[in-house]
Amino acid sequence: MYKILEYELIKVLSYMKLLMNKKNLIKLYSQLDLPFQETKQLYLKEIFKTLESKFDLQKNSTQFFIDLGSGSGQVIIYCALNYGIRSIGVEIDPILIKEAKYSIRLLKKSNYAKKKVLGKITLISGDFFELNLKDYDFIYIFSLPTMQKYLRHVFQTIKSGAIIISHRHPFRNFKGCLDLKFKLEHEGDNQEATTYFYNKL
Ligand SMILES: C[S@@+](CC[C@H](N)C(=O)[O-])C[C@H]1O[C@@H](n2cnc3c(N)ncnc32)[C@H](O)[C@@H]1O
Repeated sequence: MYKILEYELIKVLSYMKLLMNKKNLIKLYSQLDLPFQETKQLYLKEIFKTLESKFDLQKNSTQFFIDLGSGSGQVIIYCALNYGIRSIGVEIDPILIKEAKYSIRLLKKSNYAKKKVLGKITLISGDFFELNLKDYDFIYIFSLPTMQKYLRHVFQTIKSGAIIISHRHPFRNFKGCLDLKFKLEHEGDNQEATTYFYNKL
């Protein structure tokens, strides 16, 4: 009971911190539209296979992957376990950060994966609107169009040639910044979804 209250308090305090900055108000409003929802595991497998076959994702390389809004951490965990590259997750909700850390701890304890591989995962508790993405080769996002329009300044920091993967929603009005390279149409579970792969110009 006390633990739940503590979590709720941490969440309220982190949102209050955001609200103290006027500029953040509009962004925060756009975020309210984005409930936590996971990319389906079936889709994840297809997305990473596409990155490997079409976009030069190399296992155990020095490439960098980031998930903007990493939720429970499942995308970065999948990336580290299956591809052995540095996998970073940025998440604004401190409870989801705790959940992701807990999953990683369980994996470490269960010896399911080598500690060295799990050590490639980094979780950042923070706001992806504040990031500089110059070091990343693969940038994953599962967000809403309402938020995407505020991401232009963040995307300007991405190095030319990096791959941006947007699950479910295409980017609009990013001409001169992003070039759509591939559309992956998923099927299954009676629901269809699309993932969009862009090249940073
Ligand atoms: C649709 S979920 C996707 C979760 C995960 N990437 C996946 O695909 O399974 C979007 C996540 O973005 C987080 N989020 C929303 N706004 C954010 C921001 N400004 N900075 C960091 N994370 C944010 C939400 O809390 C939520 O967990």
